Amino acid sequence: MSKIILTGDRPTGKLHVGHYVGSLRRRVQLQNSNEFDKIFIMIADAQALTDNADNPEKIRQNIIEVALDYLSAGLDPEKSTLFIQSQIPQLCELSFYYMNLVTVSRLQRNPTVKSEIQMRNFETSIPVGFFTYPISQAADITAFKATCVPVGEDQLPMLEQTKEIVRKFNAVYGETLVEPEILLPDNKACLRLPGTDGKAKMSKSLGNCIYLSEDEKELSRKVMSMYTDPDHLKVSDPGKIEGNTVFTYLDAFCKDEYFAEYLPDYNNLDELKEHYQRGGLGDVKVKKFLNKVLNEELAPLRERRRQYEKDIPYVYEILKKGSETARETAEQTLTEVKNAMKINYFEDEQLIKIQSEKYANN
Ligand code: TRP
Repeated sequence: MSKIILTGDRPTGKLHVGHYVGSLRRRVQLQNSNEFDKIFIMIADAQALTDNADNPEKIRQNIIEVALDYLSAGLDPEKSTLFIQSQIPQLCELSFYYMNLVTVSRLQRNPTVKSEIQMRNFETSIPVGFFTYPISQAADITAFKATCVPVGEDQLPMLEQTKEIVRKFNAVYGETLVEPEILLPDNKACLRLPGTDGKAKMSKSLGNCIYLSEDEKELSRKVMSMYTDPDHLKVSDPGKIEGNTVFTYLDAFCKDEYFAEYLPDYNNLDELKEHYQRGGLGDVKVKKFLNKVLNEELAPLRERRRQYEKDIPYVYEILKKGSETARETAEQTLTEVKNAMKINYFEDEQLIKIQSEKYANN
């Protein structure tokens, strides 16, 4: 069986380092491993509209931002198909048929949708499109026969829902769709990178994000004002690692070689943590080190972004070409789905023959 990746992001803002360690960095590694037959990376504008119906301009503006973030992170249009969800109408058709295989109560149980509804204060005025987006996400994944979906852990319920739809569809209509596997980040710190203020989620409205495209000055400002251990008042005090954002970021980004380069008194992160916990290591020193690490990690991305920013029409051309390729693949799956459901009346000679015979003796 082919190994196929599909994943994507809602274009509601620039991507931040949480997206990077949670999924984007991994995608680039997978792409460059050459282990996959096909890789589809989708800008999920239609999904973004499910809770931004009154602000399509925001989505429109952020499509290019996300595309630039993808390219800057190292996604290569020669190896990965980058496309825009709304340009693939087959996804809507698939969603429409999958809706018949899912109950309202099943959707109501989805923990990610539940918490999103709370966060957005939808209460009883939940848009139907938003409520049903897990079904549309199942269409995204199955349209490309994805076997592997690299995403953050908040997407687990969507993958569960997709698997259920696949099983149900195959049971009712015959073996047609492929069950995907989720691929979570391998490093625990990457599962969910907190905001710079220590809050669990990075969000634009909280102003606690570090963006992939952050310039050096802003990056340094944000790192130096990061949340640490509030009880670590004097350098000599013992400090806590758990819940200390600076260390969580180091867990996600630091490599041993950075110590030799920037902090040669320590061999690795364990030694640094040990000193911090013992007391005698100040926050400023650790933050300065994190700043160096992040700078080193983000510098190549910044540089690549600058190159692509010089030719924006080319970036749109990449998305247009990618969308054409994606459409062909999705069309193939849609044909198979309709054949399985026997809603292919005009191609079904058997059907026409049987119906003719039924009326032959009249
Ligand atoms: N729900 C994802 C997010 O919020 C975006 C997305 C849409 C997606 N369709 C997908 C991710 C299919 C993986 C597979 O970022």
